Amino acid sequence: MNKIKRIGVLTSGGDCAGLNAVISAVVASAEKKGWEVYGIHDGTEGITDKVHRYEVLTTKNFCDMPWPRLSGSYLGSLNKGLRVESLEEVSKRFSQGVKDLGLDGIIVIGGDGSMNIVSNMSKNSLVKIIGIPKTIDNDTPITEFSVGFQTATQFCTTSIDSLELTARSHNRAIIVEVMGRDAGHLALHSALAGNADVCLIPEIPYSLDGIINKLKEIKARGRNHAIIVVSESIKTENGGVVTSNKNMVGEAVYGGIGQYLCAEVAKRYNEFQFRVTTLGHLQRSGVPVAFDRLLASVFGAKAVELLDKGEDNKMVIWKDGKVDAVSLSEVVKAGTTLVDTKGKYVKAAKDLGMYIGEI
Ligand code: F6P
Repeated sequence: MNKIKRIGVLTSGGDCAGLNAVISAVVASAEKKGWEVYGIHDGTEGITDKVHRYEVLTTKNFCDMPWPRLSGSYLGSLNKGLRVESLEEVSKRFSQGVKDLGLDGIIVIGGDGSMNIVSNMSKNSLVKIIGIPKTIDNDTPITEFSVGFQTATQFCTTSIDSLELTARSHNRAIIVEVMGRDAGHLALHSALAGNADVCLIPEIPYSLDGIINKLKEIKARGRNHAIIVVSESIKTENGGVVTSNKNMVGEAVYGGIGQYLCAEVAKRYNEFQFRVTTLGHLQRSGVPVAFDRLLASVFGAKAVELLDKGEDNKMVIWKDGKVDAVSLSEVVKAGTTLVDTKGKYVKAAKDLGMYIGEI
């Protein structure tokens, strides 16, 4: 028998295009079952803070504005991590919040970090948790794709296309710094799609000489411009970490490696003029592309179906063209998914003659 009367839905971690499409799909599917939906504001803090922050969501919320087509999160999100020492205290507040709000289930739209945090927070609560993976980093384990990744890849590819045109006019090598945290998926996918000459990702060591040799080869073939795609978390040649900032729990916020490479390469090789473009938070924005919206719809409907079947502590996934679900403990155990250095994308990059590091 279906015991669910009210569920919560929240977004957690860095935003990306497609979050509102997921929220809308969850609301539509839950409404069809006659459930009430509380949209929780500001990630889990809308539950754990003393004054809970939420609003009742119905499909009417998505009539006045085309929310599924807009990026950002209608509900607000937090991307600031959680101190381990505060986990016990936060879990207590989470259980209390769930009771106060009368939630039978919560759908958490988040990345690998959020899945970890929520599965820990909910250990002492009877509420059922279902995760929906989203992130421009595409590093959530087991699922092949997370909502937001394809739109970010499209944005980076379109940016590479545009930058190639200005590089061409000025005989320049343009270094394009992209996000992705500790995984190189976004850099590699957009470098392949945009035919970049060099792609540096954290999973593969590189050398400045390797980059310069590639630039020399381009010059020797009579081309006067080049595109170098760089993932934000690659290290300096001798292993230094380049950061721009720290988040609220002291974790590194990457940024600046493009400028380092520009200075170091230009010191050793001056046949090109070098410029850096950092794509920044624009990568998390834009109209979600069709595949992200398809994932949003399919994942939203599946998450509601799982709650209806009494499932708990699961995350929906996309694998081999099918939607499925795995336990949150498997997700947490698997950790962050990095680029497979022996996989098809790295092989294609090498086969195309892209310099992808010392591999
Ligand atoms: O995880 C998504 C992401 O955009 C990363 O690619 C990036 O390193 C980080 O978030 C930036 O975080 P913030 O929201 O703190 O700027």
